[in-house]
Amino acid sequence: MTSGKVALVTGGSRGIGRGICLALAAQGWNLVVNYRKDVEAARQVEQAAQAQGRRALLVQADLGDLASLEAMVDQTLEHFKRIDMLVNNAGVGPRQRMDMLQTSVESFDEVLGINLRGPFFLTQRVANEMIRLIKSGEIHDGKIINISSISAYTSSTSRAEYCISKAGLSMTTALWADRLAEYGINVYEIRPGIIATDLTSVVKEKYDRMILEEGLTPIRRWGQPEDVGKAVAAIAAGLLPFSTGEVINVDGGFHLHRL
Ligand SMILES: NC(=O)c1ccc[n+]([C@@H]2O[C@H](COP(=O)([O-])OP(=O)(O)OC[C@H]3O[C@@H](n4cnc5c(N)ncnc54)[C@H](OP(=O)(O)O)[C@@H]3O)[C@@H](O)[C@H]2O)c1
Repeated sequence: MTSGKVALVTGGSRGIGRGICLALAAQGWNLVVNYRKDVEAARQVEQAAQAQGRRALLVQADLGDLASLEAMVDQTLEHFKRIDMLVNNAGVGPRQRMDMLQTSVESFDEVLGINLRGPFFLTQRVANEMIRLIKSGEIHDGKIINISSISAYTSSTSRAEYCISKAGLSMTTALWADRLAEYGINVYEIRPGIIATDLTSVVKEKYDRMILEEGLTPIRRWGQPEDVGKAVAAIAAGLLPFSTGEVINVDGGFHLHRL
């Protein structure tokens, strides 16, 4: 059990983020549950964490608004006096899927702002705080996890901005892993495949067919938020201490080249 450690999970209120929060709470972590709009969903995660005997701080902040991210870290440190793990989970697809011959500047900037720029500068701030806390002996080590996507390497020409944002997030995994290793902060990337959440509910029928009938993934089922939660829990438990910059596919085998 991990008593007293604190994890900040962006977009921790719904979907994959919720699955991550519940897995961490079961492992003994206290939580900062970030959300953007849906405070009710965040409250449900808070209650579930409290039922496990954990503390949870709910913080509204928008990944597209860097000032709100600074305020979120301030609140975290005020409340818990420490931060041991950051999970960059929150992310959005384009409001409207558009052929990349028509992708708008507004959509490009919005998706890149939330999925890449926000996590980069949030990581920068949190990493500096972790370095300070490690040097003063208040925490022993730190962990940072990026939730990217199979879209980091898979072309979807109707949501180019999403794919580009996830490919960029993958590069930040390598960069932060390189920069932060000397301080005892390991950085990991989890690449989920097709996971059943509100984000994918709009394309449910299409993916039902592709996964269940056509065998898109060797493991013929939808991924669940708990599948990602379990991968995060393995990292959180310290089971990969000699790995950093590591990519963990949680995708039912989607990434395999098959003949
Ligand atoms: N589902 C999949 O198949 C899949 C596959 C690969 C990767 N992913 C990635 O996994 C992550 C989570 O996806 P999901 O399917 O769980 O999405 P989701 O069900 O739509 O949930 C998104 C979560 O992120 C929060 N959020 C959205 N925009 C935000 C912003 N600007 N600032 C702060 N929080 C924000 C939402 O909070 P509110 O409810 O308050 O808005 C919610 O908690 C994303 O990065 C996504 O790209 C998903």
